Amino acid sequence: MSHLSIKDLHVYYEGVETLKGIDLEIPDKSIVAIIGPSGCGKTTLLRSINRLLELSSDVKVTGRVEIDGENIYDPKADLISLRKKMGFLSQRPFPLPCSIFDNVAYGPKIHRMDADAINAVALSLEAGSKVSQNRKEALANLVEICLKKAGLWEEVKERLGSPASRLSIGQQQRLSLARALAVGAELILGDEPTSALDPISTKQIEEQFKALSSQYSIVMVTHILRQARRLADYVVFMYLGELIEHGPAEKIFNSPEKEMTRRYIKGDMS
Ligand SMILES: Nc1ncnc2c1ncn2[C@@H]1O[C@H](COP(=O)(O)OP(=O)(O)O)[C@@H](O)[C@H]1O
Ligand SMILES: [Mg+2]
Repeated sequence: MSHLSIKDLHVYYEGVETLKGIDLEIPDKSIVAIIGPSGCGKTTLLRSINRLLELSSDVKVTGRVEIDGENIYDPKADLISLRKKMGFLSQRPFPLPCSIFDNVAYGPKIHRMDADAINAVALSLEAGSKVSQNRKEALANLVEICLKKAGLWEEVKERLGSPASRLSIGQQQRLSLARALAVGAELILGDEPTSALDPISTKQIEEQFKALSSQYSIVMVTHILRQARRLADYVVFMYLGELIEHGPAEKIFNSPEKEMTRRYIKGDMS
């Protein structure tokens, strides 16, 4: 189980301060919803957690994002092993141009996980899972477990070799989830992960998140208050780059402390 802690995080785009000092402890084994109006910095916060921001040009980040006490912004940090602890679901899934099986097997392959490492992930996902000293068998077993945990196995088990691009968007998003689980990610980050999905696919992702939250932490951005109410154990409300209020979902939705939170929850603020 990975623990995530954010300390005095500031993000500047082209010199403009977009995150204005965020301090947040992410509770373990829960679903955390980041809510707030469009443009308030939800995506920026989420992407800063796994250092995805640096892909874009003029960005400056100060502060700390600690995964199990290790600062991901430390120049000496082992970015590859830290990123391995996190899976990222974007608004639209991006399957790799290969088969369903290979999409899930890709992570363990590029991370050069041996049979023991593959078995360890399988066992962490499913206690009592079968193990194999044969790497190929171990991998096939892990792919199956990940697809089951992502709620996709029954729909794809007869066509693991067919291109992932033929899956529906909803199925592709569950495939993204399976891919994250396959490298042993313990923290799932989702940026409005259901925004491109139809209601049934949305419900499927929500159900998998619920099931996984007994074991993992899930941090998701959503602008749909109803979804936050359905799913979140913990809510983080942001406004104009600041963290206005955070706490157990029950408290934020029923008795928020700040007037601004109250107005947003009531729907007085878009
Ligand atoms: N790469 C970027 N370069 C410059 N400004 C950006 C960039 N990404 C986001 N912004 C700006 O930062 C602010 C926060 O954006 P974002 O984190 O995407 O908000 P949200 O996800 O809450 O809608 C917005 O004003 C947005 O225009
Ligand atoms: Mg966003």
